[in-house]
Amino acid sequence: MSKEIVVSGIRSTGHLHLGNYFGAIQNYVKMQDACNCYFFVADYHSLTTHPDPKDLKENVFRVVAENIASGLDPNKVALYAQSDLPEIPELYLMLNMLAYMGELEKVPTFKDKVRQQPDNVNAGLLTYPVLMAADILIHRAVKVPVGKDQEQHLEMARNFAQRFNNRYGMDFFPEPHVYRFNNDTVKIMSLDGNGKMSKSENVNATIYLSDDDDTIRKKIMKAKTDAGPTEPNSVMPDYIHNLFLLMNLTSTESVIDTYQTAYNNCNIRYGDMKKQLAEDMATFIRPIREHATELQKDHDSLRKILKEGAEKAHASAAQTIEGARKLIGINYY
Ligand code: AMP
Ligand code: TRP
Repeated sequence: MSKEIVVSGIRSTGHLHLGNYFGAIQNYVKMQDACNCYFFVADYHSLTTHPDPKDLKENVFRVVAENIASGLDPNKVALYAQSDLPEIPELYLMLNMLAYMGELEKVPTFKDKVRQQPDNVNAGLLTYPVLMAADILIHRAVKVPVGKDQEQHLEMARNFAQRFNNRYGMDFFPEPHVYRFNNDTVKIMSLDGNGKMSKSENVNATIYLSDDDDTIRKKIMKAKTDAGPTEPNSVMPDYIHNLFLLMNLTSTESVIDTYQTAYNNCNIRYGDMKKQLAEDMATFIRPIREHATELQKDHDSLRKILKEGAEKAHASAAQTIEGARKLIGINYY
């Protein structure tokens, strides 16, 4: 039986953090043996915010290095830069003819951007979901491991696929769906208790894969807590729940048990809990950071990885574009 096709991308807009690791990369690593995986750095998508050309290459290399240091094996998956596949912008152009202004203007992520950057409401922001659909459909993928925030974009990708099929030939594009491990996604909150951990929010409440041990300790010791529960077995406030979630992801079972019992018995000392969590988190991140730092210095190896990834991805993308051109009627020779 042929393996299921999986596509996912991470924008090269900053340092990767625990949310990216536990929400996305860890799932990529779990899928790399069983599926036919295409993972890429969404460098074209990052252009909507006009990044400084000086930073772009380092940002792309860092995302690649941090993915590999987190366990992604470029021999098992195609790991590439979006801009290395010319078939993606070609399919994007084709799909743009099937995407309507009205539906694009209604997308919540577009409306958010209009609010956040009113001076730069460019057409790339409007057609962001069309480019994302092209990223996925170019490999005719069926599974897309992403967070909840991307569900609407996936729905649009399904709509564009259906519209193309209805107009030009049934079943050319399969419908892609969000994929979740064990049916749920881990959502890591910011350490200040305000919303989810993200690349652009409070840097002091975000733990990056590039943070050194002391930075991790400082950030965790400052995480929001309170005076502790006063009733046995109380429901946890979400910022305390987040600390337990992080502990669950990085500490041993007996450590977790100790603090869970202390919480339930109302004698938990958050200072001690955070000290323990900080040490376990530092131990967890250290090898990833050290490996990523080493890789990031080695531009030749990273270039080679990207080049080989692009070759693998090109083989599948070229087939799709050839088929799409034929169906549309662009086959003159
Ligand atoms: P982004 O950093 O927005 O480009 O997201 C890259 C991937 O990481 C997406 O699949 C997101 O859903 C996932 N992700 C980002 N932040 C978090 C978070 N705080 N918790 C869980 N997953 C996240
Ligand atoms: N929009 C996604 C995000 O912000 C990144 C992305 C771009 C992506 N193209 C994709 C994710 C294709 C999955 C598949 O996280």
